[in-house]
Amino acid sequence: MPANLVVGAQWGDEGKAKVIDYLSKDTDIIVRYQGGANAGHTVVVGGKKYIFHLVPSGIIYDNTTCVIGNGVVLDPEYFLKECADLEKSGFNVKNKVLISDSCHILLPHHRLIDEVRELGSSPEGKIGTTKKGIGMCYADKMLRIGLRAGDLLDKDMLKRKLARILEVKNQELVKYYDLEPVKLDDLFKSLSQFADIMGNNIINTIYFLNDALQQGKRVLLEGAQGTGLDIDHGTYPYVTSSNPTSGGALAGSGVSFRYLKDVIGITKAYTTRVGEGPFPSEILGEAGEVLRKLGGEYGSTTGRPRRCGWFDVQMIKHSIVVNGINNITLTKIDVLSHYDSIPVVVGYELKGKRLTHFPSQGLEDVKPVFAEFKGWKDDISGISSFDKLPPNCRSYINSLQELIGTKIGIVSTGPDREDTIIMN
Ligand code: GDP
Ligand code: IMO
Ligand code: MG
Repeated sequence: MPANLVVGAQWGDEGKAKVIDYLSKDTDIIVRYQGGANAGHTVVVGGKKYIFHLVPSGIIYDNTTCVIGNGVVLDPEYFLKECADLEKSGFNVKNKVLISDSCHILLPHHRLIDEVRELGSSPEGKIGTTKKGIGMCYADKMLRIGLRAGDLLDKDMLKRKLARILEVKNQELVKYYDLEPVKLDDLFKSLSQFADIMGNNIINTIYFLNDALQQGKRVLLEGAQGTGLDIDHGTYPYVTSSNPTSGGALAGSGVSFRYLKDVIGITKAYTTRVGEGPFPSEILGEAGEVLRKLGGEYGSTTGRPRRCGWFDVQMIKHSIVVNGINNITLTKIDVLSHYDSIPVVVGYELKGKRLTHFPSQGLEDVKPVFAEFKGWKDDISGISSFDKLPPNCRSYINSLQELIGTKIGIVSTGPDREDTIIMN
């Protein structure tokens, strides 16, 4: 059976988790393949809201197994807290979650350094990170001084590896960041505790996944963040430190590309972004605040107000190319019911010339080219059939489909699992 991929087509928070949850009923295994606790993935079922950060969003169904893939950076403290919260809601995470022995362990000093760097940055140098230590953990991975989940399984080896890592990191913490050095014994103790609780769930997930696919199991790859935040294909340097895009899904799960079937790109019917960086379709001032309030656009992880803008065709086309998206899910269309007329960015101009591509550089200098679409002004929340949508709303959806040149397969009209239209 195939593996399908759910990937964010904008700057994150597109409603990926709602779609993952929806698709999980026909899925056996859900895999997070990159990012870490910077993600905030919201699922609403029967009016009850769950927010996932490290635990894959497909956990709600009884039939699913969830995998934290090798491309994720796993913060053990954060993970155990999330598990405890979910257990209070009746989910037995320990019975359902497998952890890749190759995923990197995010350590407390990664968070501290992230915070210090963000606070100490000049306005131009600030990224606006979630301060969860993501970039620092991936940096250590690339420097080849990271700790992996498999290292937790042998306590003697763990102590030796930690000693080697702290020899390097403590110098950096003290000399460069003016922070306290990390005490080996304290860190060893807390990681040993995590290993005692989760050790049996740490396995080679690469073989587990490929064997499952070979046996006909259905796998869903769950992206965090989005294409605009991709370290290679996003708006560098205002990005996260991983590859949310489809190449990252394969590298971060070990699933062979031969199994990959549908690449489902999730996009809001408008655009949001949290943190710094260029945003051509951004709505500034009071008008932006109106959309923020209508859409409830406040971060699921940090609570920060999200910047809001109109749908951006040029950006979505970039995501389609980079990910190989063959199916789009359009979310939060209900939020636009307020408007008489809905602007859409259909392209960019630079120095009076129309650009043919989403630029790799200089996005802050482009001038967006707008088209206007008629609003519908009827409440469409919760509608689950395309035919029941007002004509102008259907026409907005059809126009976006034409502009981006890719099938819109699902339309979401509300946060709840049921508020979903499957298109013919
Ligand atoms: P993710 O990070 O991509 O999973 O998205 P988030 O969970 O951070 O943000 C999406 C927000 O929009 C959440 O609060 C969802 O419950 C909500 N949401 C998802 N789809 C819809 C929709 O179609 N309409 C409305 N009104 N809210 C939605
Ligand atoms: P989900 O999975 C929206 C943003 C941060 C910041 C940049 C780098 O819920 O869509 P980081 O902490 O990753 O080093 O921050 O990336 N960012 C997100 N924005 N949704 C997310 O995740 C995000 N994860 C990180 O705001 O601009
Ligand atoms: Mg989110």
